[in-house]
Amino acid sequence: MQLRRSALLLCCLAGLARAQEPGSAPVIPPRGETTAAPAPASTPEVAPTTGTLRYVFSSAHMATRYVAMTFDDGPHPTLTPRLLDILAQRHIHATFFLIGQNAQRYPSIVKRIAAEGHEIGNHTWTHPILSKLSDERVHSELQQTADAIRAATGADIRLMRPPYGALTQRQRETVHRDFGYNIILWSVDPLDWKDPGASVVQSRIVAGVKPGAIILSHDIHKGTVDAMPATLDALAAQAYQFVTVSELLKMDQTAARPTVR
Ligand code: NI
Repeated sequence: MQLRRSALLLCCLAGLARAQEPGSAPVIPPRGETTAAPAPASTPEVAPTTGTLRYVFSSAHMATRYVAMTFDDGPHPTLTPRLLDILAQRHIHATFFLIGQNAQRYPSIVKRIAAEGHEIGNHTWTHPILSKLSDERVHSELQQTADAIRAATGADIRLMRPPYGALTQRQRETVHRDFGYNIILWSVDPLDWKDPGASVVQSRIVAGVKPGAIILSHDIHKGTVDAMPATLDALAAQAYQFVTVSELLKMDQTAARPTVR
């Protein structure tokens, strides 16, 4: 459907999280996701320049208590299976943004993630700051990862999360056009990569959550996985239900509408 461009407003770019890469960060595991928050959860992140619908999300708009737990940077050989056990015990489906190199190294864990009903997203091959890379490098980072995940699961993926949230608006458009991905940021960031301890991770997530939240965390950190049983139980006690990111976006009250004012 072709929409009138004049009816579409370019919305804020504030959600483009500023990348502040620690200077000597190893590729795997990366040292952390964020140093800057994405746009407020209520702000549409989109700049639809081709009459398309929204495709960049940091949360979903809804009144009902659904949230998406997301786990980045894995799979990890021991922590990810432990997390999968925790999720299975509670019948919770989450979303895993996998690093391609790790997916290639642990294909049986990738397969298990998919087999147990979780969603898998693309988190690049080497976890670089994409906003500093050429289009060719960005494409190969995503394509290699998509290929590794497809080799393990037989399925194509529909989501990507840029490491550190760092993707320029032009790159967002290119990635969406070339891969068809929704680009997923987050609305709750417990800064778990700084290893603040399980109870702090839990309290930050519980304090930040609201209906439609996309919760960022990392299943390559022991403290994060240690935090999950109590975190998930606390949210469930507040009547929150857990869905994958794509399920959450399907429920988004505004997802089917362009951002017109
Ligand atoms: Ni990451």
